[in-house]
Amino acid sequence: MSLVNPNVEKMAGYIPGEQPESLDVIKLNTNENPYPPSPKVREAIAKITDEQLRRYPSPDARVFRAMAGSVHSVDPEFIITTNGGDELLSIVFRACLLPGDRVAMLDPSYSLYPVLAAAIGATPVMLPYRINGLQWHLPEEIFHLDARLLLIVNPNAPSGTMIDPHTLERIAHSFSGVVLIDEAYADFAPQTALSLVHKCPNVILLRSMSKGYGLAGIRFGYGIGRPELLAQLYKVRDSYPCDAVAIAAATAAIEDQPYARGTWMDVIEQRRWLQKTLMDMDFMGPESFSNFILATVPRGRSAADIYAKLKAGGILVRYFNLPGLQDKLRITVGKPADNQALIKALRRIVAGRSISLQETA
Ligand SMILES: Cc1ncc(COP(=O)(O)O)c(C=O)c1O
Repeated sequence: MSLVNPNVEKMAGYIPGEQPESLDVIKLNTNENPYPPSPKVREAIAKITDEQLRRYPSPDARVFRAMAGSVHSVDPEFIITTNGGDELLSIVFRACLLPGDRVAMLDPSYSLYPVLAAAIGATPVMLPYRINGLQWHLPEEIFHLDARLLLIVNPNAPSGTMIDPHTLERIAHSFSGVVLIDEAYADFAPQTALSLVHKCPNVILLRSMSKGYGLAGIRFGYGIGRPELLAQLYKVRDSYPCDAVAIAAATAAIEDQPYARGTWMDVIEQRRWLQKTLMDMDFMGPESFSNFILATVPRGRSAADIYAKLKAGGILVRYFNLPGLQDKLRITVGKPADNQALIKALRRIVAGRSISLQETA
């Protein structure tokens, strides 16, 4: 007899993006903010007392929820905090799905979703999201779904493209289950689906502090949805999912909106430069509204080969050996010097010349 749930035994686990020990690498592979968090975060962490470390933290991160509520103009009761956005996903899967239930997601989108479905024994319904020229197209079936849970990353990962709030509203109205709109990258986008949480009782948004606020290292995320829906999620959540240090850091980060917005503006400006420069080199892709670019490599080139050569030269980007993505690279927008080093390295690779870490620096 298996020691674990048979669903777990037969599934493949999620493989996170590479996190090298060495800092001597240009890291454009896991979509972190290239800028550090607000200096107020360090101040907040420095103020943590022994007493705060001795006691359990606030179970519902009340200070953070009050601050996030004022930033998003929603009642704090509409906010649930989690140990990273990933934990919100686990909770929603646990709360909504029984073995055999159908869970719909765009394909491609976040590769953690099918893994969470497999652990429960739920059936993933993959909705083909396909590129034609520079346009990605939603399948018509998204408006006529038979499933209990629907996941939409917006802006999408890995494409970087956006579905407008009006279309999302139509989808939410046509769907009888819970719609999780994963806005992990919304800070870099021109629109959010925030207004839908008031209009559609079945919508929950996922937000992450890892990308927009430069806090991937502390693990903090949150959901925004109707309190009646959140009340169900609280039942299957850890008792103290966010520690005292993380709550203090995340609260300071979200409070310092001018700082965070400054980093988003810089990333957006760099994204435009990088995208235009890549297009000029025949690395094509639709306009990204995120902090990464999905670029199809020039005809006759191998994305796997370019990925490997960049890695050998000390530059990490993401390559997905998956249908529809094998000719593409997902490149996180970095600081200007990192983006320039990437372009320099790509020019050398395309010209058949070797690159080394010293040359890219
Ligand atoms: C689409 C998407 N959703 C959610 C997450 C989870 O983010 P975190 O757990 O770091 O808050 C990620 C992280 O890469 C992501 O890409």
